[in-house]
Amino acid sequence: MKKNIVVLISGRGSNLKSIISATNKENFPAKISLVISSNKSALGLKIAEKNHIKNVVVEQKEFSNKELFESDLIGKIAQQDPSLICLAGFMQILSKTFINKFKDKIINIHPSLLPDYKGLNTHERAIKSGEKYSGCTVHYVTEELDSGKIIAQERVLISPSDTPDTLSRKVLEREHIIYPKTIESLLS
Ligand code: GRF
Repeated sequence: MKKNIVVLISGRGSNLKSIISATNKENFPAKISLVISSNKSALGLKIAEKNHIKNVVVEQKEFSNKELFESDLIGKIAQQDPSLICLAGFMQILSKTFINKFKDKIINIHPSLLPDYKGLNTHERAIKSGEKYSGCTVHYVTEELDSGKIIAQERVLISPSDTPDTLSRKVLEREHIIYPKTIESLLS
């Protein structure tokens, strides 16, 4: 039987889409049992909807504090008894309580070759620094932003004509391959 995974998004959802395509394959070890968005306008919600995947919005602004927001998230995720929680463009920093609740089960994809360029605007910073390569990293989520153990990485060459936009597209193509592949190898 396929294992459950929960995917957390906040925006476009292109990584979600690549995970959905992978999970649709008969021999993929997992299925997405729930998509949670921290933003009701996330395009990724439409992707979930179109693919008949259960989805729900949990916005922090609906709660009086972060603790209540997270406890709602925790409740919804725990109900799925997931083998993995995959952050895919999820724009929220998770607390120690949340991370400990799902120890070693939360992974994220980040658009840089970690440990370089943690945080936002990775492509812009990599180009400005004159890097030859950029890429993407799948890593475990810990309390410290973009700093958990690295599981997989893909490198792309930065060409002199690259802009943050073209580099982001190049890297995203690799993200769409590496993320489902990593989920598959972790759960097989
Ligand atoms: C990706 O670049 C991912 O690496 C980062 O956020 C972006 C999400 O894009 N964590 P999408 O919503 O999956 O299209």
